[in-house]
Amino acid sequence: MPTAFITGATAGIGAAFARRLAADGMDLGLLGRDATRLEKAARDHRARYGSTVETLPADLATDDGIAAAERRLADGVDLLINNAGFAQKGRFLDVPVEDELVMLRVHCEVVLRLTYAALPGMIERSRGAVVNVASVAAFFSRGTYGASKAWVVGFSQGVEQDIRVRGGRGVRVMALCPGFVHTEFHQRANMDMSGVPEFMWLDADSVVRDGLRDLRRGVPVSVPGAQYKTLVGLGKLVPRTLAGRISARTGRRYK
Ligand SMILES: NC(=O)c1ccc[n+]([C@@H]2O[C@H](COP(=O)([O-])OP(=O)(O)OC[C@H]3O[C@@H](n4cnc5c(N)ncnc54)[C@H](OP(=O)(O)O)[C@@H]3O)[C@@H](O)[C@H]2O)c1
Repeated sequence: MPTAFITGATAGIGAAFARRLAADGMDLGLLGRDATRLEKAARDHRARYGSTVETLPADLATDDGIAAAERRLADGVDLLINNAGFAQKGRFLDVPVEDELVMLRVHCEVVLRLTYAALPGMIERSRGAVVNVASVAAFFSRGTYGASKAWVVGFSQGVEQDIRVRGGRGVRVMALCPGFVHTEFHQRANMDMSGVPEFMWLDADSVVRDGLRDLRRGVPVSVPGAQYKTLVGLGKLVPRTLAGRISARTGRRYK
């Protein structure tokens, strides 16, 4: 059976990927820090879908955690979902620099290293895909979070091009850019999201459904939801500084 390896599989979008891919008949490798939640998810997927599920409790902010994930990926997977991530409350200079560096590590260094570990086997087998979960924030200047996700989009597009140049048939790299999604993400960062209108919220299952559909269609940068496709399209029409100013003002309400 083809195997999907998902980081941040204990909650939110990662857990939705695990459910969808198990239902589609894939075996799973699930990574997160919370070993109890990982085991529970694994039991559920085995019982419900008959999948083979491995768990890898690991902290991707640590050298050991990253190395453990790299070792597992070097053994071969068919689909890597680089999804683990988090938000930080506050503007630049409000957040301790150490925490900003952890964000860069988990959002950028980990995505680079796990993609690096997974791709050679995929290229050799002419089969596989990497989905890097970025954000709509990638398209608007909004602090370290938005910048880290802009890097994920640019990195994914660049690697996708490099694979084409190498003639790597059957291998895809896609950036998935959701807007606001109902998960544990904002609550973990202690952000008050009560001001966000209901029509701006997506659910994790539809983000995953749209993302996997775009992956099958060969879309390099997937933006789920009509409202966010419109927002990103409009964002490209106004100067980046203006879009950034509006984004920074809007962001003040979600703190
Ligand atoms: N929710 C949104 O509105 C939204 C919008 C755009 C993009 N995104 C992106 O979507 C991705 C998933 O977020 P989510 O909304 O599903 O958030 P979530 O519900 O808080 O889930 C985050 C997942 O990441 C894992 N994680 C966090 N830090 C980790 C670390 N150091 N090592 C290993 N695992 C770690 C968590 O697992 P453990 O706690 O078990 O470690 C959890 O499984 C993130 O990259 C986020 O930036 C979210």
